[in-house]
Amino acid sequence: MKLLVIGSGGREHAIAKKLLESAGVEQVFVAPGNDGMTLDGLTVVDITIAEHDRLIAFAKENDIAWTFVGPDDALAAGIVDDFTAAGLKAFGPSKLAAELEWSKDFAKSIMVKYDVPTAKYGTFTDFEEAKAYIEAQGAPIVVKADGLALGKGVVVAETVEQAVEAARDMLLDNKFGNSGTRVVIEEFLAGEEFSLFAFVNGDKFYIMPTAQDHKRAYDGDKGPNTGGMGAYAPVPHLSQAVIDQSVETIVKPVLKGMIAEGRPYLGILYCGLILTADGPKVIEFNARFGDPETQIILPRLTSNFAQNITDILDEETPDITWLDGGVTLGVVVASNGYPLDYAKGMELPAKTEGDIITYYAGAKFADNSKALLSNGGRVYMLVTTAADVKTAQNTIYTELNNQTTDGLFYRSDIGSKAIKD
Ligand code: AMP
Ligand code: GLY
Repeated sequence: MKLLVIGSGGREHAIAKKLLESAGVEQVFVAPGNDGMTLDGLTVVDITIAEHDRLIAFAKENDIAWTFVGPDDALAAGIVDDFTAAGLKAFGPSKLAAELEWSKDFAKSIMVKYDVPTAKYGTFTDFEEAKAYIEAQGAPIVVKADGLALGKGVVVAETVEQAVEAARDMLLDNKFGNSGTRVVIEEFLAGEEFSLFAFVNGDKFYIMPTAQDHKRAYDGDKGPNTGGMGAYAPVPHLSQAVIDQSVETIVKPVLKGMIAEGRPYLGILYCGLILTADGPKVIEFNARFGDPETQIILPRLTSNFAQNITDILDEETPDITWLDGGVTLGVVVASNGYPLDYAKGMELPAKTEGDIITYYAGAKFADNSKALLSNGGRVYMLVTTAADVKTAQNTIYTELNNQTTDGLFYRSDIGSKAIKD
């Protein structure tokens, strides 16, 4: 079987690598991928995610059994609808189902209608109305651009002034372009944040181990929000009761709701949750796998990943199994300056072997050699599985200390919250 993965980051590297390791899979293509992936035997294809017609032609010419779609913008652009219309199988939600991610206002309305616990909110296009709402609610309060904003369209404001400024940036100064012409303003939820992922087809779903991302750029959760600087799974201090409650109060009703709305869900559902004093509540849904969470969840999958996805696509019951002890932890190495401006072209250390996996995101061969150079904000990620968080941290940080990472940075406290608790 030959498979195609769409996307180019560490998430897609982890998906494609796991697919290639599945018995019965001969070749995995990644479009557009990145050069680092080729070190794992993956085949990169020079077609961008926006070129649906070329991707469809490629899948037909190469006898692709099905395509796995990684990124949110491809889903929001209706890539799964286009593949389906061309008679091809693709794993991911339709454009209408993916609206759970690409419109925060839509996601909120579904949660209210189907009784899914989430923060109280208001949606605004008018700045004066937004300002009045913020002043009436008080701080802390959270201001979110309605549309996709690479994880950067959210401002957790500690004061009314900060919140009003964020609303002004989005509604009057157009800081997030079209994504910010509408804003969702919501209650600040205090508590521990975690992510719950599920493989989904309609009302059938299969939950994955819990994961915790680290969204801020610097140690101690300081600095700007990024796409994610490191993660670990499972989250040891989350009880099975909390997971069960999340499934019952969140996953089940939202999937039923999507069916009732005529938008049945297929693909990965990503629930961004906060464990509040009143139980788990939703801060966001994403219509795809997380990055970097995929890189620490998929190494824990012990079943045949390609067969699992084939079964889900065919509405058969997949036999999904996971490692049941220890923890998988990963640290992202990013370009200095990320998530703002950064330089490219830093030479990267050699790919790790043995117990540490290297997943590449922004990596590219030099013009005249096979030396890998940095080519993006998040550059690569080191991942390992160990008995506990501390041991995993030791392994990763010892390796990072030995690597030459000029022009690059990483957080030195990934997973530390799990140790203190
Ligand atoms: P999002 O892009 O929706 O994941 O939001 C980015 C980050 O902002 C989240 O990871 C949370 O840490 C924080 N956040 C978002 N919504 C809320 C909320 N209602 N209460 C507290 N923190 C939030
Ligand atoms: N790690 C956060 C995300 O994928 O949205």
